[in-house]
Amino acid sequence: MASRLYGFGVIGCGVISDTHCDAISRLPRARLVAVADKNEQAARSKGEQWSCEWHTDVAELLARDDIDVVNVVVPSGLHAKIGIQAAEAGKHVICTKPIDITLEAIDDLILACRRNGVKLGATHQFRSYPVFKRIKNALEDGRFGRPLYANAFVPWYRAPEYYAGSWHGTRELDGGGALMNQSIHYIDLLLWMFGDVAQVAGFADTLVHDIEVEDCASATLRFRSGAQGLIQGTTCTYQGKPARLEVHGELGNAVVLGDQIQLWEVEGDETEWNPTAGSSGAASDPRHGMIGLAVQAHMEQIEDLIEAIEEGREPLLNGLEARRAVELILAIYRSSAEGQVVSLPLKPAP
Ligand SMILES: NC(=O)c1ccc[n+]([C@@H]2O[C@H](COP(=O)([O-])OP(=O)(O)OC[C@H]3O[C@@H](n4cnc5c(N)ncnc54)[C@H](O)[C@@H]3O)[C@@H](O)[C@H]2O)c1
Repeated sequence: MASRLYGFGVIGCGVISDTHCDAISRLPRARLVAVADKNEQAARSKGEQWSCEWHTDVAELLARDDIDVVNVVVPSGLHAKIGIQAAEAGKHVICTKPIDITLEAIDDLILACRRNGVKLGATHQFRSYPVFKRIKNALEDGRFGRPLYANAFVPWYRAPEYYAGSWHGTRELDGGGALMNQSIHYIDLLLWMFGDVAQVAGFADTLVHDIEVEDCASATLRFRSGAQGLIQGTTCTYQGKPARLEVHGELGNAVVLGDQIQLWEVEGDETEWNPTAGSSGAASDPRHGMIGLAVQAHMEQIEDLIEAIEEGREPLLNGLEARRAVELILAIYRSSAEGQVVSLPLKPAP
């Protein structure tokens, strides 16, 4: 198929929609055609901001012939529902994280996209940050030797106002808290770098915020490879601190704080990695996580979806790939609720 311009529609006009609209607008093969939100004010102002059409009825956006791809950026528990509607309207789908909050909903979405012959992609932007790509590549090249530990500590903070009167922190639409909404970025990185987890033991508790889901969680992992790992994710840390990712192998160690490399120690690697020149060099807001380079990372992942359409292949970050982090998080919740070590998979992937 010859390359052409792809029309995009963005459903959900809240906080993250700007990143998607911005990324689409910068891609040479993409055109932002319309946005939709059930809230008229949100839809109108987003349409005006990005000089595109706007709708308050999702079905109206989906009925448009000039839209090929739909970006789903509504609250997490609605991703599959809206994604399935889009697939049934013949649109390719790209979902923000988490792809949805239950495996049943995610699997329905994956199957709906298959049935309708459309692509399903997801955005987990941290995979596109240079600092994490470098670690992933070095692991794949065997430069760390046998991988031993992958640890993610995410001591972020969210103010009470973030949750008050919002879908955030609700079981129905957030599906979880510090893990499902925030630390999922790092949980996805651990799985991407170290492969699937075989067993997990976790605790998920609500210690500070007045919410239905966890605001403090910890987990110990055993990967299928035999490597081990730790996760700590919270939205309660005093003043919020940058997340820390640690990777240790028999032949190397890497530590990233925020988006800056703190330690790069790989046997036989004489290069001195200059963190500011070589990494994303982006602004890091410890309260809200990394924000720099987010648009560029989204561009890369949306562009991959376009290439997947043209090449008739799966997007790199497809539905099954995005499902992995949600499955691990759900396993941590189960472990905490049952007081047991939980084995994965929880449910066979479709
Ligand atoms: N990748 C990232 O870094 C990142 C950052 C923030 C949020 N997110 C994800 O993006 C999603 C949205 O988060 P947000 O912070 O933008 O939320 P938000 O509350 O700011 O915006 C959500 C919007 O969706 C609209 N909406 C709700 N139900 C709808 C429906 N049925 N039809 C049409 N519109 C509907 C709301 O009116 C609201 O304007 C969540 O899944 C979240 O996890 C990802």
